[in-house]
Amino acid sequence: MGILEVKGLGKDFGGLRVLENISFSLAEGTVTGLIGPNGAGKSTLVNLIAGSDRPTRGEIYFFSRPVHNLASWRIARLGLARTFQITRIFRDLTLRENIRLAAWTIGLRGSRLEAEVDRLLDLTELSDKAGVLCSDLTLPDQKRLQLARALALQPKLLLLDEVMAGLNPVELDKAIALLNRLRLQGITMLVIEHLMKVIMNISDRVIVLHQGQLIADGQPTEVVNMSQVQEAYLGSRYVKHKAEGTGLGGDA
Ligand SMILES: Nc1ncnc2c1ncn2[C@@H]1O[C@H](COP(=O)(O)OP(=O)(O)OP(=O)(O)O)[C@@H](O)[C@H]1O
Ligand SMILES: [Mg+2]
Repeated sequence: MGILEVKGLGKDFGGLRVLENISFSLAEGTVTGLIGPNGAGKSTLVNLIAGSDRPTRGEIYFFSRPVHNLASWRIARLGLARTFQITRIFRDLTLRENIRLAAWTIGLRGSRLEAEVDRLLDLTELSDKAGVLCSDLTLPDQKRLQLARALALQPKLLLLDEVMAGLNPVELDKAIALLNRLRLQGITMLVIEHLMKVIMNISDRVIVLHQGQLIADGQPTEVVNMSQVQEAYLGSRYVKHKAEGTGLGGDA
């Protein structure tokens, strides 16, 4: 039994069937990569799990508790944190204030709050920008801030929707190292990323969405070599990643 169980999940937008019969579970402490072409339904799936949107069909269990009808803040309280593909931050607050707000919501106050904010700034390598207004941050820094805010909630399960887009190769390696450190802390993660270098470096397992359906689920090397995955998504992308070792392919 995983900490997250998704059973027969489906989502329609009007007449458009965006997700169909999605079932999988996430074992505690594991990192699962979620890949698939633009429009496959990845962000929609994360929205359903986090309670930002309601499924049309199916069920979601978090620590064996049904959450498919719970408000997102209730699911967050149970230990789930997520980032958004389109960053959502308080633009007229500083970076430090943004993180402090998130840490405040779990009850930290005073010096313990400030110490936790310092830890998160350090962990996400944002300390030197702590006083910068968020409206002045670059997109990669906004994404790092979202990650810091998600971690401030001390989640058991972390859903990351393309937090690494726009990072340069050095920053990317640092981000991969950070996710691996989080994994060592026992945080279960579901990671959407178009960069195959990231997926191959951090995932215990990879699941693939294509046109709203789960077309593959297994070990990373096994999945990327499946013919249906090559045809639906990877094609030249993974071959290029292997040849160059650079993990190109951020077309989102
Ligand atoms: N609120 C909405 N109303 C109508 N259609 C939507 C809505 N949100 C998403 N869609 C549609 O659902 C499909 C899946 O979108 P989704 O954003 O989940 O894809 P994705 O896999 O995250 O893509 P990307 O890699 O580009 O981020 C797309 O066809 C999209 O246009
Ligand atoms: Mg998306």
